[in-house]
Amino acid sequence: MSQLVEVSQSQLDGLTPRQIVSELDKYIVGQAAAKKSVAIALRNRMRRQFVDDEIRAEIKPKNILMIGATGVGKTEISRRLARLTTCPFVKVEATKFTEVGYVGRDVESMVRDLVDISIDMVREEEILRVEEEAERLVTEEILDALLPAGHSSSEDEEGGSSLSEKTSTTREKLREKLEAGELEERYIEVLVEEAVNPQVEVFSQDGIDQMGIDMGSVLSELLPSSKKKRKMRIREARAILFEQVLDLLINMDDVRQAGLQLAEEMGIIFLDELDKVAAGGREETGGPGVSRQGVQRDLLPLLEGTAVRTRYGTVSTENVLFIAAGAFNMSKPSDLIPELQGRLPIRVELDNLTAADFRRILCEPKDALVTQYRALMETEAVSLTVSEDAIEAIANIAYELNQTTENIGARRLTTVMERLMEDISYDADQLRGQTVVIDKAYVEEHLQNIVEDPDLSRYIL
Ligand SMILES: Nc1ncnc2c1ncn2[C@@H]1O[C@H](COP(=O)(O)OP(=O)(O)OP(=O)(O)O)[C@@H](O)[C@H]1O
Ligand SMILES: [Mg+2]
Repeated sequence: MSQLVEVSQSQLDGLTPRQIVSELDKYIVGQAAAKKSVAIALRNRMRRQFVDDEIRAEIKPKNILMIGATGVGKTEISRRLARLTTCPFVKVEATKFTEVGYVGRDVESMVRDLVDISIDMVREEEILRVEEEAERLVTEEILDALLPAGHSSSEDEEGGSSLSEKTSTTREKLREKLEAGELEERYIEVLVEEAVNPQVEVFSQDGIDQMGIDMGSVLSELLPSSKKKRKMRIREARAILFEQVLDLLINMDDVRQAGLQLAEEMGIIFLDELDKVAAGGREETGGPGVSRQGVQRDLLPLLEGTAVRTRYGTVSTENVLFIAAGAFNMSKPSDLIPELQGRLPIRVELDNLTAADFRRILCEPKDALVTQYRALMETEAVSLTVSEDAIEAIANIAYELNQTTENIGARRLTTVMERLMEDISYDADQLRGQTVVIDKAYVEEHLQNIVEDPDLSRYIL
């Protein structure tokens, strides 16, 4: 487990709350309060690892509820956070779940997903640790396969020593060639495990998996595994041999244990669309009898801390950090059952986006819309310039439309930009080598008539 702590020590060097916020700033405009509180929560995840055992047991994660209108960046924050953090991170939509006992995913599946991710993370670490050794062994395996049968170095054969000497010089020559990459196309025989039962895949899907048993591995242990020799190019054999060698070098029991602990201690679950399981929404989802309250009630123990069975063992959710988000336009946080509200003690509100925010969102983020369109046009040698007053006009139009029709936040920019770019996108092949300038006049010419007609804009933008 010391290994686990080492991993997080390097994390502590890397990501201060300030750094997390500044990474988020590269993609998300505004929303300082939300960024700050997720950054602190993330940091506390790591700090907790370094606290004395006794106090650590007392430090529970402070779950967060992000509230903000549609299209203001809630999901975007979680997406970026997921890429930033080195903690096991799962992002799920609350609407995916149905009450226990009904067809569909039960809430515990998010914990199982978290464990899967943690196990993978630990295994990846282990692979890095043994990689060199594994590659060395793979080379030896390939050399074994290359050397014709009978040349194996058994000393007690007649003239054994001279034979084995010969073998070893051949082996060294082959090794040189192999390292020079000259033998990649040569065929060798490799012992591969045959997929005994193709239906195993079907079993390991959600249904049976929900019992926390990995039917795939149970079945494959019960059924006779057949190994078969297959001929393949060295180039192809490498990956297969590498996996086989890893199985020998990596102790899966250790990985399992470390993975479970990683999930328990460092796991983060982002629960999106929580408002959709609150009462007061449009209609009940999931068919008769499946209530949203039911889903909420199922969520309670997870947030409180419960033991969940997974295929790798039982995991406690007591220290898993939950970050929930919801627009809460059809419902309010107070429509959630009180116990659930109480388990999301930190509330952050995201601001509604202004026209000035829209201007920035169009250009500033690393994946800004204008940058995207410019890149798309570049592939056809069309250079796209969007003037500042055009950006302003687009932002204003998007903002106005949000006020006059439905407020869909920054998503409006996507529809407006797509419409604006339609002609240029269509004609790009004929504009090869040219510079296309989108200025205020162009924006007005292409969008104004739609904006002015509320019926048109309701359908088009
Ligand atoms: N503050 C922002 N800065 C940059 N881009 C943003 C911002 N807010 C939203 N966007 C963009 O708008 C789109 C929708 O945002 P997002 O998915 O985060 O909305 P949301 O808050 O989760 O809304 P919903 O409640 O409907 O799920 C994304 O493509 C995102 O890039
Ligand atoms: Mg969202």
